Amino acid sequence: MDKKVTIVGAGFVGATAAQRMAEKELADVVLVDIVEGVPQGKALDLTQAAAVEKHDSKILGTNAYEASANSDIVIITAGIPRKPGMSRDDLLSTNAGIMKNVTQQIAKYSPNAILIIVSNPLDAMCHVAHQVSGFPKNRVIGMAGVLDSARFRAFIAMELNVSIESTHAFVLGGHGDTMVPLPRYSTVGGIPITELMSKDRIDALVKRTANGGAEIVSLLKTGSAFYAPASSAVEMAKAILLDKKTVLPCAAYLEGEYGINGLFIGVPVKLGKAGVEQVIEIKLTDDEKAALHKSAAAVQELKSALAKLSK
Ligand code: APR
Repeated sequence: MDKKVTIVGAGFVGATAAQRMAEKELADVVLVDIVEGVPQGKALDLTQAAAVEKHDSKILGTNAYEASANSDIVIITAGIPRKPGMSRDDLLSTNAGIMKNVTQQIAKYSPNAILIIVSNPLDAMCHVAHQVSGFPKNRVIGMAGVLDSARFRAFIAMELNVSIESTHAFVLGGHGDTMVPLPRYSTVGGIPITELMSKDRIDALVKRTANGGAEIVSLLKTGSAFYAPASSAVEMAKAILLDKKTVLPCAAYLEGEYGINGLFIGVPVKLGKAGVEQVIEIKLTDDEKAALHKSAAAVQELKSALAKLSK
């Protein structure tokens, strides 16, 4: 492959993302982890699967960053996942330390890469990666909205018994309890769901979407969701690698858009070879605006907690 993607963290999300990336033949993959043997073992296993899956992506596992040099994209999943009862924010100090370490190495070996951040608490981890890398804002992007929208779409399809392919959904805001699913912009075959479902049912699906990660954590008990997070990160990487100009909800650094300044928060963006090529501003109702600003305030709190940690 002529493109190279490094995935840091060879755990559930990272290894699944490596598998999807390789099977789609989007790029060669370098899998990096701090635990000796794990990235090497998973890379070898995936390489052997390639014979059956019929793809020619190369997958290399390593504990050092040299092999990741000059990656086009780096997906960062390193960190500890949530346990039952933990909020994403409980992960803040541990994962901030990990993110700092990883970003320093990545910035050293792949100064031109585009970073896709997956580790939680997502919006805060984007800030760490942005600050530590010194990369311009278009090259640091958080994976949240694609996942949250995918969850909303799954619940819409289940509720209406329609093909999930016919669904479209938009979720804005931070990747947490304050996320802002937008029913007005969520459709089935182009028809807004507000025309297809009662307000009560929409409210129930919106609530389930906002709680979508915790629902899975409480079922798994020893970890958090990984199939949909991995798919979502790969979807973003694909838009960038193929310069598709796909419009997707992602955590992007805002400087005045939506009246928000200096924060990573989920908004619709155009993803292409430069990373975030445009933040798309859509008109929001007063209620939606208020919900987005409430979500921004929650992200701001995390950003302030981060600043205290680094003192
Ligand atoms: N450098 C590289 N890898 C690291 C480091 C580090 N400093 N610290 C931890 N890791 C690795 C772990 O060894 C582990 O293999 O990160 C991997 C994380 O994998 P899992 O524990 O399986 O967690 P996962 O479910 O993949 O979630 C990863 O994504 O969705 C988010 O909240 C989730 O922050 C979590 C992240």
